Formats: sequence, structure tokens, C-alpha cells
Amino acid sequence: MTYVREAAAAAVFAMTIGIAGTGYAPAQAQGDPVKPPPAAAKKPADPALGRELSEQAKIYQSKGDVVPAEYVIDRSLLSYAITLLPEFDRSLAELGPADRWLDIGAGEGQAILDYYGSRYDAMHPDGREQRGSKAQAVAISIEDRRTDEWHQTAANLEPGKIKYFFGKPLSQYSAAELGKFSLATDVYGGFSYTPNLSRFMEKVLASMESGGSFYTLLIDVHPETWSKPPQRPRSGFQTEIVNADGSEIKVCTWLKRISCVQVTCEQEAKWDTPIERYRIRKTCADVKVPVLRSVHFAAGTPPARRFQSVEPTAAPAVGSGGTAR
Ligand SMILES: C[S@@+](CC[C@H](N)C(=O)[O-])C[C@H]1O[C@@H](n2cnc3c(N)ncnc32)[C@H](O)[C@@H]1O
Repeated sequence: MTYVREAAAAAVFAMTIGIAGTGYAPAQAQGDPVKPPPAAAKKPADPALGRELSEQAKIYQSKGDVVPAEYVIDRSLLSYAITLLPEFDRSLAELGPADRWLDIGAGEGQAILDYYGSRYDAMHPDGREQRGSKAQAVAISIEDRRTDEWHQTAANLEPGKIKYFFGKPLSQYSAAELGKFSLATDVYGGFSYTPNLSRFMEKVLASMESGGSFYTLLIDVHPETWSKPPQRPRSGFQTEIVNADGSEIKVCTWLKRISCVQVTCEQEAKWDTPIERYRIRKTCADVKVPVLRSVHFAAGTPPARRFQSVEPTAAPAVGSGGTAR
């Protein structure tokens, strides 16, 4: 039974990088257990990658004492505010009841629960009237980590005010399932874990309203303004991107090559392990994300990933207008 669940999760995961079937898993919102499509039973073409995806699936499906200590699933909203760029706190506080917030890789969804908690308005008195009954919030997680508190809060709020989607990665949702969002966050979620970063970013930006912002970060990445080598020189940074010729592209540089976005990248210099925080603001509808392929994936919390650009040239896209600071 456990094997079937893990194999299914690995196969769904494999689908996201195009190495198994191409079918979509059924939408999972608020309820049913994961039911992968028959195509998901196919094995990944690369056995080593298949093993890594299987290991990663075990982390997602881990429960109780088996959950790895570093796999944190219950960060508070305060922790999000400290972890993400400082503008996030204001962006969230300014949302009104007609807005929608997407938390990708939400774990237990504690940040969303804190947003609806009574202390939130006390701590954010500005804009309280405009916020009214607050934005609708949607949590996405591969595995169902909802707690009793989640179920109780959902039952006490107006129907559909908070939603929890699970059972497949973000990139497998249709536009109709997701709808559009004014704000998106990802704190050590899909942005840090996906084996297909370009498809992931396409999906995030397709589900953002123009003018909306996506806040996220990466740990152990080569920041835009950082000259230090990786802590483990032989294994490199946790997330790396290279050009077709093998030369490095920093993640911030790659993000700035996306059209119709304004990118802010800020490094956290306090720790030895470099962290870079990002705000990606969608400025117009014609988003084009430079395609990457996965060339290395090693399961972990988060996994080690290396991507390669499929584009021969590295000229910045027109209209990408980013800033690094
Ligand atoms: C380490 S937990 C982080 C949970 C939460 N953000 C927190 O800080 O407490 C990683 C979360 O990302 C989710 N995740 C990983 N890859 C994902 C993807 N491609 N799409 C959606 N969720 C993903 C996992 O299922 C899990 O909920």
C-alpha cells in the first residue's frame, strides 16, 4: 500500500518533468485521497532520476516521527514576513475581500490560518477597514497536511474563503482550477522543490493578475551580488542554472529574462549559506519564461537541482526591466 502511494507520487512528480505519462491527475481540493491516472504507473525513463523522485515522494508522504526534521511544514505568518522580502507584509495587508492569495507549498497552511486569526488585524491596524473580511486564500501542497485547526477555521469562515488543494504539483493544475491571484507566496515550497523550474514559473505567472506579485526565496543559491564559492565546492549550490555551453546563469539573472515581469533580488548576508529573496511582479500579460531542462535532481529538504537553458543565446528578453538590490 505504502509502495503504491510512493510510486504514484513519484510518477505524478515524474510527469511534471515530462519523463512519464502526460495525463493530468484529477483535481484534489479539500477532500479526496490522491488517485494518480493510469499513465502515472509508467516508470521514469532515467532509473537514477526515478529513484530520486521516489525518495522525494517519501519525504512528501512522511508522517509523524518519520517526517525529516528539516522538512518544516508549519511556519507561521510571522515567519513568512521575516523570511520573504519586507514588502510582502504590506502587500498582504493591502488585499481586500475581492482579492485572492495563493500560498504554493503551504504545508499545514499555518500562514493562512494566522492571516485569519484575531491577532492579525491587531498587528496590522492600517487598512483594516479596506481589508474587510479579507482576501480568499488558497493553499497548495503535494500532500495533505491539513490540521484540525485548518478544518475548524474553514468551517467557521464563509464557504470557500480558504481552500486547500493537494494531490499534485502546481504545474498540473489547469487555469480553470486555479483562477487568478493578486498575491502569491512560496516559502520553501514548489520554487525550492520543483524538478521543472521553468514550467513552474510559467504556471505561477499565468495564474497572477497583472500588477500582482510573487514572493519567494532560495537557500544555498548563488546570489546576484555574491562572489563566494559554494560551501560544498564539489557539489555546488543547492539550486543552479547553466547555459547550453555549461557556463553559469544566476537564478536572479534567469528570472530577469522572463518577459512582462519586474524582478527584485535581495541576498541575505547574515548567514554563511547564501539565501536570496525574490519579488517577481507581473507587469503585462505576454509572459514568456526561458525554458530550462532538468540535468540533476537529488532528493532532499530541499532537493539539489541543476537546470540547463535550452536556448543557445543568453541575451536578456526585451521588457524584462528588473532590478537587483
Ligand atoms: C518544506 S514544506 C514548506 C511548507 C510551508 N511553506 C512552511 O514554510 O511551513 C514544502 C511544501 O511544498 C510543497 N511542494 C513541493 N513541491 C511543490 C510543487 N511543485 N507544487 C506545489 N507544492 C509543492 C510540499 O508538498 C509541501 O507542502
